[in-house]
Amino acid sequence: MKVLLLGSGGREHAIAWKLTRDDPSVDLIAAPGNPGIEELGRCVRLSITDAAAVCALADAERPDLVIVGPEAPLAAGVSDALRARGHAVFGPSQAAAQLESSKRYAKQVMLEHGIPTGVASWHVDHAQALAATRLNGAPVVIKASGLAAGKGVVVAATMEEAEHALDDIMLRSIHGASGAEVLVEEYLEGEELSVFALTDGSTFVVLPAAQDHKRLLDGDRGPNTGGMGAYSPVSLATASLISRVCDEVIEPTLAAMRKRSTPFQGLLYCGLMLTADGPKVIEFNCRFGDPETQVVLPLLDANLAELCLQSAGRSPLGPSRVLPTSGDSAVTTVVAAPGYPEAARTGGLLTLPHHDDVLVFHAGTGRNPDGALVASGGRVLAVTGVAPDFQAACRRSREVAAEVVLDGAMLRSDIGWRELARRAGAS
Ligand code: AMP
Ligand code: GLY
Repeated sequence: MKVLLLGSGGREHAIAWKLTRDDPSVDLIAAPGNPGIEELGRCVRLSITDAAAVCALADAERPDLVIVGPEAPLAAGVSDALRARGHAVFGPSQAAAQLESSKRYAKQVMLEHGIPTGVASWHVDHAQALAATRLNGAPVVIKASGLAAGKGVVVAATMEEAEHALDDIMLRSIHGASGAEVLVEEYLEGEELSVFALTDGSTFVVLPAAQDHKRLLDGDRGPNTGGMGAYSPVSLATASLISRVCDEVIEPTLAAMRKRSTPFQGLLYCGLMLTADGPKVIEFNCRFGDPETQVVLPLLDANLAELCLQSAGRSPLGPSRVLPTSGDSAVTTVVAAPGYPEAARTGGLLTLPHHDDVLVFHAGTGRNPDGALVASGGRVLAVTGVAPDFQAACRRSREVAAEVVLDGAMLRSDIGWRELARRAGAS
């Protein structure tokens, strides 16, 4: 089997690792890939949001499957262009990817179809946004509607913070055009859970649920980031909760997208808040989560390429809704560059630890002119411990992440703390 994988992050390295683990004979081409993926396949430099360039590569290589890793090429219509040329693609159309690329669109779909979510209004006018924010009162959540690499959301505890966020996003345009429209959303209280549904547009299967640590600092403090770590399984994700999410969120969302003539094929990432009134959608993403993929895929028994081909409509998906897992636990700690998330300083020399029981996924790495490994992005590595025991997985992830040599590295030392507390409370 020949697979073309688009992307260069930790999620894509984890996908590449899973593909080659499932089938060591897989012929993997990654664009642009990264130094970690290079050990598993061939990397081709190109801009993955350039549909013509991606199609030219796919036409030349004739892969059995194209996997689109990140949201940017999906929002740019790369999957549509590939499908139009007959390629089997894992990833939604540009129209369906609006579930992630426009938070306003996602909110409208949810409100129209009775999918549980926070109450929100959307505005292109600063004065109106300010009035809605004042009407809601603090705490309140201000969101840039467009894509902002996980950084366009401000959970404002005070009115002052909320007004500052509106100024930053709408007047100072800190997220560029992504902030031309904002959502003013009610603050939801509870634990967060990420549930992934892999779908052909009608049928779906659910992968092991994960919890992400979005805040920069230990104890879930500091600014929101793209994600500083994640773990799976999550004991909150009981069979009955997952069944409820399937019935109340996934099924009706897929039905809504079919009804709009924009069926959603690929990976529907449901970012949920488990409130006292039940699970509510905080956000949808239209691709695998990063860094959740770095814990979910190591636990998955099923063959990933086969699932992706099923999602692309090449063979039937299912029949069971929940995919079996190995029964192990996985915990990943992100090692970020100094200055992340505001102003990551790249170029620092990097030395990686090697241990048989820990997976070190490259997220933002590159090579300097001398060929040495350097940090090239905000999130540099994701260090995943996998063990039969949750505590051991936490410990190994933390220990090995601390062994990474990178000047000024930012990393948390408490990934999985909520689950550890839950388990301690239950025993
Ligand atoms: P998003 O990019 O929409 O997932 O938001 C980033 C993070 O902001 C989420 O993971 C939550 O921690 C937080 N968040 C977003 N919306 C809300 C909300 N309505 N209430 C409370 N926290 C929220
Ligand atoms: N971990 C959050 C995301 O992938 O958007």
